[in-house]
Amino acid sequence: MNAAEYSIVVASATDVRSLAEHWQREVVDNGRDGLWFSPYDPDEDAKPITDERIAQISAAIERPLTEPMWQRVWTLRHRDAPERVLGSLSLHGGRIVSELHRCSLGMGIEPEHRGRRNGTALVEAALAWARATAQLSWVDLGVFAGNHRAKALYARAGFVVVGERRDAFRVRGVKITDVTMTLCLDEARGATT
Ligand SMILES: CC(C)(COP(=O)(O)OP(=O)(O)OC[C@H]1O[C@@H](n2cnc3c(N)ncnc32)[C@H](O)[C@@H]1OP(=O)(O)O)[C@@H](O)C(=O)NCCC(=O)NCCS
Repeated sequence: MNAAEYSIVVASATDVRSLAEHWQREVVDNGRDGLWFSPYDPDEDAKPITDERIAQISAAIERPLTEPMWQRVWTLRHRDAPERVLGSLSLHGGRIVSELHRCSLGMGIEPEHRGRRNGTALVEAALAWARATAQLSWVDLGVFAGNHRAKALYARAGFVVVGERRDAFRVRGVKITDVTMTLCLDEARGATT
């Protein structure tokens, strides 16, 4: 990431509409040239952003880490239009109390801002927080088998493949294999599990 041009900001409730608009833009090329990275049909992704959806996201990003279904989002901004979200990484807390030591990661960058180490910078920022502030033990993610760029990025950050689900999704008739990767933060801290 070119730090003079780009910055990473943790999203607050006032950013949620801009974030939701970004989530619509970052999937515009899903499936182009056979590269799938989202399990939604591109037409399905273009749903309107409702007030109810905004309220749900706002509640999740303000939810304490001690409660299931919390969410935190790191956003990528450019100095020329800092109010606009160009990329994002979300961490989602466990769905039930006994899962709160884990979170799952999802991310995406709008096409013209990819390949500039912005993804790497988002991952580094979120993992530093997960380790030091949230003190989580595991980060999980799913990545489509054909998404070599994303897999390389996650592997470099220390994620390892723990399994795969063949034919996990069918989008426009294409069968997609979902690879599960995980990162143990306790091992990195030197603890035993
Ligand atoms: C995947 C994504 C988040 C990565 O972010 P990015 O800013 O483009 O990635 P970076 O520039 O930080 O790093 C990508 C790395 O993959 C490498 N790479 C690029 N294309 C590759 C390919 N086809 N195969 C293997 N590695 C590849 C790059 O060389 C780079 O490695 P390097 O830093 O050692 O040079 C971004 O490209 C994106 O949003 N893609 C579409 C949405 C998506 O796939 N989201 C992830 C869903 S799991």
